[in-house]
Amino acid sequence: MKICIVGASGKLGKYMVQHALDRGYEVVGVCREKSVPKLDAFKDRITILPGPTNDRELIQKAVQGCDGVLTVLAPWGVHDYASGTAQAVLDYAQPGARLIFSCGWHITRDGQDVYSTLFKVLVAIIGFIVRLVRLVDLNDQVEACRRIFDSDTRWTVVRGSDLEEGPSQGLPVWSHHVGDPILKSNLTRRIDFALFMVEALTNDDLIHEAPAIVGCKTASALEHAGVTVQ
Ligand SMILES: NC(=O)c1ccc[n+]([C@@H]2O[C@H](COP(=O)([O-])OP(=O)(O)OC[C@H]3O[C@@H](n4cnc5c(N)ncnc54)[C@H](OP(=O)(O)O)[C@@H]3O)[C@@H](O)[C@H]2O)c1
Repeated sequence: MKICIVGASGKLGKYMVQHALDRGYEVVGVCREKSVPKLDAFKDRITILPGPTNDRELIQKAVQGCDGVLTVLAPWGVHDYASGTAQAVLDYAQPGARLIFSCGWHITRDGQDVYSTLFKVLVAIIGFIVRLVRLVDLNDQVEACRRIFDSDTRWTVVRGSDLEEGPSQGLPVWSHHVGDPILKSNLTRRIDFALFMVEALTNDDLIHEAPAIVGCKTASALEHAGVTVQ
């Protein structure tokens, strides 16, 4: 299995590289030129293509011959970085390749997600401030996902909860809609978010799904599984 990881040098990306290498996959990583040193630990085991992830020519080269593409959707700046990245992957991945994208819970596929008032207020306020200072454009990630949902490629959009660092607890559990009781704890280890992304490459049940994930050891996940939490 040969895969491409777009955004390989980030926190999520590096965990995905490790999980992919653990499975014996051949890995091509794309990251910004200045971030290449962040991948030093893997430099003898993966191919690194430096450059902006929305560079269409770079993505075309990177995804060539790949059976799967893992893409970190990062809506940096106000120039359609995430949607440009997503579009390039959708356009150039080889037909039939599994395409897995990361985003947050704020993305909704069918409008059936139920968000708390606090969540909606935080997304609105933080989204407004980061857009005002031209740092991040959350709407760009929304646009990226709209294009993915409309695509007839073999996509999965993995929607991450709040994240924390720490050793792996195992594969996160998921549900179709934010607001489902199993997701109530709203916390996932970043290493396990990466695990879910890599596992999705070989899980055809997740094709054309937008799973919202939560850590498998969180209170809400355990409660759903019938485990009594002290
Ligand atoms: N953070 C959370 O709490 C959270 C919660 C739910 C879902 N998510 C999702 O999880 C994914 C990973 O997020 P993360 O927070 O864990 O961060 P991350 O893995 O470190 O990813 C951030 C990515 O953005 C790139 N980046 C950073 N600054 C940039 C800039 N100015 N211009 C262009 N690219 C830049 C990074 O590349 P470099 O290595 O080059 O800097 C990296 O590829 C995202 O899809 C996010 O939507 C995050």
